Amino acid sequence: MNRPRFMLATVGVALALCLATVSLWAQGGRGFGQGPPRRGGGPDAQFPADREVFQYLLSHHDDIRRTVTNRDDGVETLTESDDPQVTAKIQQHVAAMYRRVEEDRPIRRRDPLFDELFRHADAIEMEMEKTDKGIKVTETSADPQVVRLLQEHAKVVSSFVRNGHAEARKSHAVPPSAPTRPTTAPPATTP
Ligand code: HEM
Repeated sequence: MNRPRFMLATVGVALALCLATVSLWAQGGRGFGQGPPRRGGGPDAQFPADREVFQYLLSHHDDIRRTVTNRDDGVETLTESDDPQVTAKIQQHVAAMYRRVEEDRPIRRRDPLFDELFRHADAIEMEMEKTDKGIKVTETSADPQVVRLLQEHAKVVSSFVRNGHAEARKSHAVPPSAPTRPTTAPPATTP
């Protein structure tokens, strides 16, 4: 190969390497032996849009009202507002969070309760029904510990509604699981 051709080939190879590197970097570093993306390994593409909506809800918490009814297998909630814009955002938020639970795309993993909830995403059934002013949600599970998680999460959402951003800065504990058998031995009986 003569000298100009060799130079051209070298520049071509270098350019191809650069392009490949940039493209792998844009994919979040995958391809450098890191394997597939970890579940919840970081914010996903949908996160900024979701954050905008829940930040809006936190800012408008005074315009939101909510009732929660616990049932044996889960929880029923009604969350509404007289402000049509807030109503739309509540409905949008719940639909987005429903998709996250369905597709196991966790959010707020720094908060133990949310992390634990998403760990059990496959054990959660969620039904939504829009109302004129908001949304009615029924969340159930066949697993009693997941039922407790759902009820605790519903309480936290009510605290978001009551306290807005101040509550969102807090962490929320996972409720203790109920013992499935007595923790102390029953008193000895003599026949
Ligand atoms: C005032 C603020 C908020 C309102 C009104 C609100 C409303 C709701 C409602 C109505 C649900 C359906 C379940 C239920 O009713 O208990 C829900 C679910 C959910 N919300 Fe929010 N939310 C708020 C803030 C947040 C924030 C700050 C986050 C996270 C950063 C968040 C994350 C979630 C998640 C992950 C779910 C689905 C989990 C599940 O229900 O099993 N929400 N939210």
